[in-house]
Amino acid sequence: MSEKIENLLGEDRTFDPPSSIVENANATQEWFDLANEDRLAYWQKQALERITWYKEPKEILDDSDAPFYKWFKDGELNLAYNCLDRHLETDGDRIAFYWEGEPGDSQEITYKDLYERVCKLSNGLKELDVKKGDRIAIYLGMTPEIVISMLACARIGAVHSVVFGGFSAEALADRINDAEAKVVITADGAWRRGDIVPLKQNVDDSLKLTDHIESVIVVKRTENDVTMVDGRDYWYSELVDKQEADCEPEVMNAEDMLYILYTSGTTAKPKGIVHTQAGYLTGVTTTHSAVFDVKEDDIYWCAADCGWVTGHSYIVYGPLANKTTSVMYEGAPNAPDEKRLWSIVEKYKVNIFYTAPTAIRAFMKWGVEHPQAHDLTSLRLLGTVGEPINPEAWMWYHENIGNESCAIVDTWWQTETGSIMITPLPGITSTKPGSACGPMPGIDAVVVDENGIEVSKGEGGYLAVKSPWPSMLRTVFGDEKRYIDTYWSKYDGMYFAGDGAKYDDDGYFWLLGRVDDVMNISGHRISTAEVESALVAHESVAEAAVIGRADEISGEAIAAFVTLIGGYEGNEELISTLRQHVSDKIGPIAKPKSIVITNDLPKTRSGKIMRRLLKDISEERKLGDVTTLANADIVSELQTRSSESRDE
Ligand code: PRX
Repeated sequence: MSEKIENLLGEDRTFDPPSSIVENANATQEWFDLANEDRLAYWQKQALERITWYKEPKEILDDSDAPFYKWFKDGELNLAYNCLDRHLETDGDRIAFYWEGEPGDSQEITYKDLYERVCKLSNGLKELDVKKGDRIAIYLGMTPEIVISMLACARIGAVHSVVFGGFSAEALADRINDAEAKVVITADGAWRRGDIVPLKQNVDDSLKLTDHIESVIVVKRTENDVTMVDGRDYWYSELVDKQEADCEPEVMNAEDMLYILYTSGTTAKPKGIVHTQAGYLTGVTTTHSAVFDVKEDDIYWCAADCGWVTGHSYIVYGPLANKTTSVMYEGAPNAPDEKRLWSIVEKYKVNIFYTAPTAIRAFMKWGVEHPQAHDLTSLRLLGTVGEPINPEAWMWYHENIGNESCAIVDTWWQTETGSIMITPLPGITSTKPGSACGPMPGIDAVVVDENGIEVSKGEGGYLAVKSPWPSMLRTVFGDEKRYIDTYWSKYDGMYFAGDGAKYDDDGYFWLLGRVDDVMNISGHRISTAEVESALVAHESVAEAAVIGRADEISGEAIAAFVTLIGGYEGNEELISTLRQHVSDKIGPIAKPKSIVITNDLPKTRSGKIMRRLLKDISEERKLGDVTTLANADIVSELQTRSSESRDE
């Protein structure tokens, strides 16, 4: 980390907010003034102004059972109503989504269309006996049905658990079992770079590992053959087309559960992060308006997947509640070629574009000729999320996509935080390439030392949040102890984010990556323990150690070190079997980029694997003192093997 801190200290470029944005920005200095004066009054103002309530809340925050905080707990509302119904009278014909399919098909979906499609699915779910509080797994590609499914759940008070379509059957089964989901909504397949991801086949395989599921709803998208089980499996259109296009929204309490979203932690078992209704909607609508500075006629594009929190907050709930017109794209950024995203920007005259640093690094590698082939002058604001953005990638984005005139917002947040926490505000903040700048109004984020004392300017430490905020997670599904242990026990009364951070001399925040055993692969969290346990589950593997090593495109790449059970030969074939095995267990995103087979792993005398040393070896750094190792000879063997494995 110290090396990174030194590099960052050299960054002294600043960019003032574009004057065109300053003049008419949604978020102004007054927001900070109010939040600093009275944080709870600030949040109450946001909640009352942005949400249409059935019953307005009188109480803002109940902290009597901390860290099980409750926000607006006597309020009543429905999120689908807030995202759809309330817009219909004046804006039913407004486009909610310009949807682009990967093969080139497209749909223009108005708020009225979306309302009707959501109501019909809501009625279809009711026909399958789905009731308030039931959990529904959603395992779909980026077609309109993924948004419709989430909103249909919200409408009838069911809890959605979206599982990213890139996860394997086993990963899906784990999540179904943990949430005890009773319905899965899936598709025959999803398009990915011209290939079909066999979603329904994966669901069938996952159902061999769970007995919770009563019904499977199958969207027809890729038209590949699938097996349908009578009485359990329903074609989406057969279930939904016949339904009424109206469905009374369920009146929800502010603290009823809205969704569960699984994310990796430091153990092999993913955590089901729980979000509730009103605080979450307050957080996502406030930040969507303030950070992206979205105006009535803007075309906004969050190029994420609804399988991750970014899609939940900034494709579905934030933009729709704010009556925004969005672009939604189904496929890969290089399908059919590397110009695809830029042709979409030109086609719809996109004004606001939000993506991940890993995507930007891929654009850099593909070359400037691709964005240059299209007219990108409609763009006014660019955003990034998911991992630290290196200043070089920030500058490339600024110059080649932003034409040196767009505001850039580097937004730090997490599945757990629900909405953006640390970010520049486009009409207020002077930005520095690579810095997420500072906390949103009403967010008490700080950098602290090991003892929880705030560090001084120019110093580094851990990122923490000193006070609760409305869109925070409420618990880990079914595991209150894990909620407390993970987030609330490192520091007394403060939320521990698991990220390293530092203040520069001006007090700007610089995020430095995870400080726990969580890797960040292309902006997606994967725990080292999850990959290790997948490897050890293979019959040939005795022991495995996994680390994230620096990678030019994906930020980090998974590097595994494995010892074998006697009798197995560590050849190329076994290595590729093991890589595939991890992909089957978790999903292609967790496939190790390199696997080194070794006779032994470097361990301390007490038997603890020295991951830091493995990281140094993988990144070809000069090694420090290795005399504390029980088996120092292993180091040179690993250095040789690791450099041989780098081109995997
Ligand atoms: O390490 C931080 C990194 O992503 C983690 C959260 O991952 P996830 O819950 O999957 O949510 C990603 C999308 C919100 C954080 O703990 N991270 C996210 N945004 C940034 C970031 N690191 C640095 N800079 C960011 N802007």
